[in-house]
Amino acid sequence: MIAQTLKWVGDVNGFLELIDQRRLPGEFVKLQCRNTEQLYEAIKTLAVRGAPAIGVSAAYGVVLGMQKLTEADNVERRLEVLAKSCKYLALSRPTAINLFWALDRVRKSAEEFVAGKPDAKLPALREAVLTEANAIYQEDVEMCRRIGENGEKFIKPGAGILTHCNAGALATAGQGTALSPMFEAHKKGRKFKVYSDETRPLLQGARLTAWELKQAGIEVVVICDNMAGCVMKQGHINAVITGADRIAANGDTANKIGTYSLSILAREHGIPFYIAAPSSTFDLSIKSGDEIPIEQRADEEVTTFGKTQIAPDGVKVYNPAFDVTDASNITAIITEKGIIENPCTDSISKHLRF
Ligand code: MRU
Repeated sequence: MIAQTLKWVGDVNGFLELIDQRRLPGEFVKLQCRNTEQLYEAIKTLAVRGAPAIGVSAAYGVVLGMQKLTEADNVERRLEVLAKSCKYLALSRPTAINLFWALDRVRKSAEEFVAGKPDAKLPALREAVLTEANAIYQEDVEMCRRIGENGEKFIKPGAGILTHCNAGALATAGQGTALSPMFEAHKKGRKFKVYSDETRPLLQGARLTAWELKQAGIEVVVICDNMAGCVMKQGHINAVITGADRIAANGDTANKIGTYSLSILAREHGIPFYIAAPSSTFDLSIKSGDEIPIEQRADEEVTTFGKTQIAPDGVKVYNPAFDVTDASNITAIITEKGIIENPCTDSISKHLRF
């Protein structure tokens, strides 16, 4: 069974229902977001997380924003609320490009609707925004499935696969990116073992990836982040597959902190290193990974473990949520369109054009 991470409930007056990922695996609880403020908070605090899921949720966040309008609001006011909702939600997290991609797409489609039908009544505009958000949702489901179909060949019978953080169904509207090839290989009856890094400080690997894979009946072994090198040296890993939060034009890839170290370890041990991501994760407006904004998160995420303090009061902390893996360390990027071997500016632009 694959989790349904987010769901729009009802018509344009409805709400966004999310699995509250802060509480997994201990509790399976749904969270209802009924306004943009609640959704902003849900994204910021990682109730919903993972680049594609953040993007799809934000698209529905614009639908929530438009619920503030009344029939008395004129076209200027409608466009103002639209722009404000997008701007506000864009501040929730800085690294995953899918957030900005989805918000831009909803805003542009609503602006085009207004330009084409300036006399349309408010319900028609709100309906158009919901339709666009639904399209983004459906496309994500489809892209995830195709990433799985394109990538399952990298999971050989009996293989050991290492993954980091969570790039599964919980991180998307569909069956995930990095985990999608695993779900497809499993469907074909292939046996393999997944090593899931715990992923300090927020433990997405231990809490979420292990939960998802267990639910799906895929063998999963949780390891601490600092065990990856040892496990590779012992010969347990045949491939590393992770997701991505933003891929620059040259293939440099931002993903959860720790991904870069894994790419170095994989290279050292001669293990192929794959990134799985939909085309909505590419940012061709930036040349290299140096330009990717990296989110810095609260000190407490590092100085506490659950509710237990594990570092002295007042100690200095550095807590970047993501790092950038150089394109030269990436064997291939798996997208919904196919495989980009040895990613570079040229191969990426050709791949995305088709
Ligand atoms: O901070 P998070 O949990 O949102 O980080 C998520 C990741 O780093 C994922 O690997 C990435 O978003 C890809 S999700 C398909």
